[in-house]
Amino acid sequence: MRVAIVSAMREELAAVLSDIEHGTAEQVAGREFWRGRLHGHEVVAVQARIGKVAAAATATVLAERYQVDVILFTGVAGGLAEGVCRGDVVVASEFLQHDMDASPLFPRFEAPLYGRARFPTDPHWSERLAQAARQALPQAGLHRGLVISGDRFVASAADSRALRDALPDALAVEMEGAAFAQVCLDYGLPYAAVRTVSDRADDTAHGDFQRFIEETASRHSAAIVRALLG
Ligand code: ADE
Repeated sequence: MRVAIVSAMREELAAVLSDIEHGTAEQVAGREFWRGRLHGHEVVAVQARIGKVAAAATATVLAERYQVDVILFTGVAGGLAEGVCRGDVVVASEFLQHDMDASPLFPRFEAPLYGRARFPTDPHWSERLAQAARQALPQAGLHRGLVISGDRFVASAADSRALRDALPDALAVEMEGAAFAQVCLDYGLPYAAVRTVSDRADDTAHGDFQRFIEETASRHSAAIVRALLG
């Protein structure tokens, strides 16, 4: 069993990387892929970079070159639904690209020629991630459901309200998850994702974003991965 652990930003992955034993790095497609042992498991860890294209490229390399058995994404997201607060944890049950719109050829949000807008995550690994999050971070609120992705950092109350109106069941927004979900569906590869809520996707979203990732989200990711694999 070879497990891929992925984040968008280096800071999100930092604490996971420092837990890897006997790690060796390899450059592929301009990214560093770290192979080694993590809590007794064979892992490949990589920083995908930000956005859906970078995410899709990373997922493809993991599937084709590293032949991983599962991809687990850890990182941060902006809270959208009421009650999804900073510091909470969201485990995605499905993903959708909120900036996909090929209407009138296809319904808004539908991925053309896939016949669907929503891409599910793997139920078994999502359940394991949720259990790991509960165990590692018992004080944090845990939410499970739809997470939406787009090539835009959502940083205004008006923008997040528009997303909530269009997609009332969306829990959180980020910039990579739906791309991983689509590529993993293409390859028949199990995929699950956990995100710490770093902001409320409003006018203050960018405030101490970097510091939150370094001080909180990175530790959350490492603790959840430890509880999952350890
Ligand atoms: N990731 C974390 N916060 C985000 C936001 N507000 N918009 C998009 N991606 C995010």
